[in-house]
Amino acid sequence: MTQQNLVNAFGGESMAHMRYRHFAYTAEREGFTNVARLFRAIAHAEFIHAGDHYRELKHLEEGIVANSMGAFAIGDTLKNIGLGIAGETFEINEMYPVYIQTAKFQKEDGAVRTFEWALNTEKQHKKLYEKAEEAVKEGNDVNVDSIQVCEVCGYTLEGEIPEECPICGAKKDKFTSFE
Ligand SMILES: [Fe+2]
Ligand SMILES: [Fe+2]
Repeated sequence: MTQQNLVNAFGGESMAHMRYRHFAYTAEREGFTNVARLFRAIAHAEFIHAGDHYRELKHLEEGIVANSMGAFAIGDTLKNIGLGIAGETFEINEMYPVYIQTAKFQKEDGAVRTFEWALNTEKQHKKLYEKAEEAVKEGNDVNVDSIQVCEVCGYTLEGEIPEECPICGAKKDKFTSFE
């Protein structure tokens, strides 16, 4: 089951990555430069999550089809932020908690770790999107500082690069800045 959950998580994160990259183009076109930067930063975090899940699938012998789970729609930036919030909320409240419990039960420590890294990150993504939604609802771009993404676990935060990643302990030089 954990193997299938890793495949599903890889699919979900891959789709999230691609959706957010496209949402960034739309935001740019609509003049929301900071929202576009936020989408690009979070897309990068989802790429890292997908890669972390992918590497846990090293024992998979044959190719397997990964579904994305996420609903897909095309809209303006306000709608796209809403889709982002819905996706993150599903991952926070349902998907990752269930995957983590299952992986713990099956003593799949590596999978527990990548699922927990993703869960902790998605909570930050949701907060950042909620902030963006508030601004865009009023017709404004969001006011965000530099966004930092940990290259190891995907953790995403606004502001200065921390000395150490609060989630995985990676050092300062493992962060990528979106400014
Ligand atoms: Fe996310
Ligand atoms: Fe990290």
